Amino acid sequence: MSKMVTPYNDQQRTKKEQVEEMFDNIAHRYDFLNHLLSLGIDITWRKKAVKYIGTIQPETILDVASGTGDFAFESLSLRPKKIIGFDLSEEMIKYGREKAGKMKMGNRVEFIKGDSEKMPFSDSSFDAMTVGFGVRNFENLTAGLAEMHRVIREGGKVAILEAAMPHNAIIRGLYSLYFGKIVPVIGRIFSKDVRAYSYLPESVKAFPEGLEFVKILENIGFKNVRWRPLTFGVCALYTMEK
Ligand SMILES: C[S@@+](CC[C@H](N)C(=O)[O-])C[C@H]1O[C@@H](n2cnc3c(N)ncnc32)[C@H](O)[C@@H]1O
Repeated sequence: MSKMVTPYNDQQRTKKEQVEEMFDNIAHRYDFLNHLLSLGIDITWRKKAVKYIGTIQPETILDVASGTGDFAFESLSLRPKKIIGFDLSEEMIKYGREKAGKMKMGNRVEFIKGDSEKMPFSDSSFDAMTVGFGVRNFENLTAGLAEMHRVIREGGKVAILEAAMPHNAIIRGLYSLYFGKIVPVIGRIFSKDVRAYSYLPESVKAFPEGLEFVKILENIGFKNVRWRPLTFGVCALYTMEK
């Protein structure tokens, strides 16, 4: 079995504990660095994902690994009754709650702290679900995905965005230089966390991508699972139904 990639390579603590600490540490700079490092293109990726779940006009949406809530806020365009942003990191959701307050959307977007591998929701509670750059951070990927499958209703739609590596050799080479060498330095300078933005490319390389991830999702029980690369393959959009 391949070694689990963790934020701080600390064998005394679980990946989950390290992931929580890392996002607590970088929360104050997360949105800024996200938009800077992706040149703002991450916004268009979320829009595409929201368009997919919008086809069933969901009334209840769960944004898993919601962080500071950008995916949850994007889904407001669908005018659902309720969006729940669910995340492990208290600091990340603190910024999410602040943003919801500023947008006067606190009654529509609620943030709950918790572990997506064991969610406090009953079976089939949501019409739609989004996950942005979260599944890669799960300690037990299949446990997290099985929980997502449990809490979404029959016919509900799920959109998952995850960072990926381009397949074209030239683009991959150039992107590896940017993602593997430049991003960690910029991330370290702004976030002050020496590992967070090195863990990012390491965890992307270790994550099952494309058809490999599609198979995992199908084994969990999701139907009509599709994937497509976005922006030269630096991001992947996975869509599916229950
Ligand atoms: C890269 S951020 C993504 C935030 C947001 N979804 C976005 O699109 O920008 C990943 C988030 O996943 C959360 N996370 C990681 N493992 C988790 C778990 N087991 N349960 C809940 N949240 C988790 C982290 O706390 C972090 O806020």
